[in-house]
Amino acid sequence: MVHMGFCDILGFLFVSYCVPEKPVDKKPPERFHLEFQWSYLNFTWPSVMEYHNAITSLRYIPENNAMAGIKYYNNRMYVALPRFRKGTPITLAFVPLKAKSKTNPLLRPYPNWSMNAQKNCSTLQNVNGMEIDRHGVMWVIDGVRTNGLTKCPPKIVLLDLKAGGKVVQSYNFPSDVSLHHGSLLSDIVIDENDGGFAYITDNSLQDPGIIVYSRHANKGWKVRDATMFAEMDAAEFTVDGLLNDDLMPVDGIALSPSPKRRNADRLVYYSALSSFSIYAISSGILKDEKLVKSGNWRRDIELVGRKQSQSDGLTMDSKGNLYYGMLSSYAIGKWNTNKPFESARKMDSNRRTMIWPDSFAFDLNGFMYVLTNGINKFFKQHYELRLSPEIKFRILKINVGTNSYLYS
Ligand SMILES: *[C@@H]1O[C@H](CO)[C@@H](O)[C@H](O)[C@H]1NC(C)=O
Ligand SMILES: *[C@@H]1O[C@H](CO)[C@@H](O)[C@H](O)[C@H]1NC(C)=O
Ligand SMILES: *[C@@H]1O[C@H](CO)[C@@H](O)[C@H](O)[C@H]1NC(C)=O
Repeated sequence: MVHMGFCDILGFLFVSYCVPEKPVDKKPPERFHLEFQWSYLNFTWPSVMEYHNAITSLRYIPENNAMAGIKYYNNRMYVALPRFRKGTPITLAFVPLKAKSKTNPLLRPYPNWSMNAQKNCSTLQNVNGMEIDRHGVMWVIDGVRTNGLTKCPPKIVLLDLKAGGKVVQSYNFPSDVSLHHGSLLSDIVIDENDGGFAYITDNSLQDPGIIVYSRHANKGWKVRDATMFAEMDAAEFTVDGLLNDDLMPVDGIALSPSPKRRNADRLVYYSALSSFSIYAISSGILKDEKLVKSGNWRRDIELVGRKQSQSDGLTMDSKGNLYYGMLSSYAIGKWNTNKPFESARKMDSNRRTMIWPDSFAFDLNGFMYVLTNGINKFFKQHYELRLSPEIKFRILKINVGTNSYLYS
């Protein structure tokens, strides 16, 4: 039971006596504000006829469409739409930031409808996340292979946003890097040094790890370590009435800003979903394929903090602040990595609007965005999804005054 003081109980009688204590040395809470919200996802269909055909043929089942990764570029919010269920016609789309409606704005398929076609290995099959580099190239991880909705190998696809989404590079991961049946490429950060690298979390239950992709070599490899597994003491938690008891491995990933010293390494932070621990490893180690294959690299892994809650996505800004969702407390946490982890704090929490903070994005005007999506309901196969006016997805924003780690 919550401890109640004398003034809590009798406060209403002694109004003038029981003035609330002034918070000492406490910053006011930082509040997130609503940018967009959806009760279901719908698209800008080519014609009313196509829309009706898709509904009647069950090619489009509105309540089955989920939103996961979000990233901002040039007045658009790009959204990844993972196919966890049937009836999901589009897997990558965007919404203009100036969309007229804040509620249920239609999503625009990106680059177009044909690049979202199912069962064609040249197109995007099942996307959970992406990142956009400073040159306007979007690195898309097409790697949800946990269901039979596609037989195509998981891949990374680079799209040039300045050229209408033209494919500039594509790489299929071999199955010893990312399982062709059972991988779940969850999140990605980009390191623009040394020809361009991506660090990608593979949340696969069978073969979890961090995948390193070199753009220059157009090649990937995987690092695996026990710190990327779920922790037993964090295995069970409830969000919005739904118990999560799957042992969900490495998921959130963040990259520290460019170091002040040239040639110094950056740190890659990561956390398993069913876990409280945040670990860090230097990017230089991950980039060294020979070294990570030798096994003599694990001593570099450092436990940097123990969160109060499990989290899905992580992100970092240009000043070295790490942001993370706190799933079981419906909150967003913030840690300035230049200070001890004990200084980390809850920025904002809301039982109604912060159900499963999943993915973060930054614009160039000092705003950070977070997507809250109750995604646990989509990947629990037997959970019955319903079309209703209840809001399922929210994009919230807050002025943090910084950019993403890419702009440092
Ligand atoms: C979905 O969007 C199309 C326009 O692309 C519209 O005609 C249709 O009525 C919408 N359906 C719902 C249920 O909102
Ligand atoms: C697969 O997609 C590519 C790229 O959009 C397209 O050129 C090709 O015709 C498609 N193949 C089939 C069989 O639809
Ligand atoms: C769709 O986008 C792809 C990639 O940008 C492009 O190659 C293709 O021509 C586009 N298809 C249509 C029908 O616009």
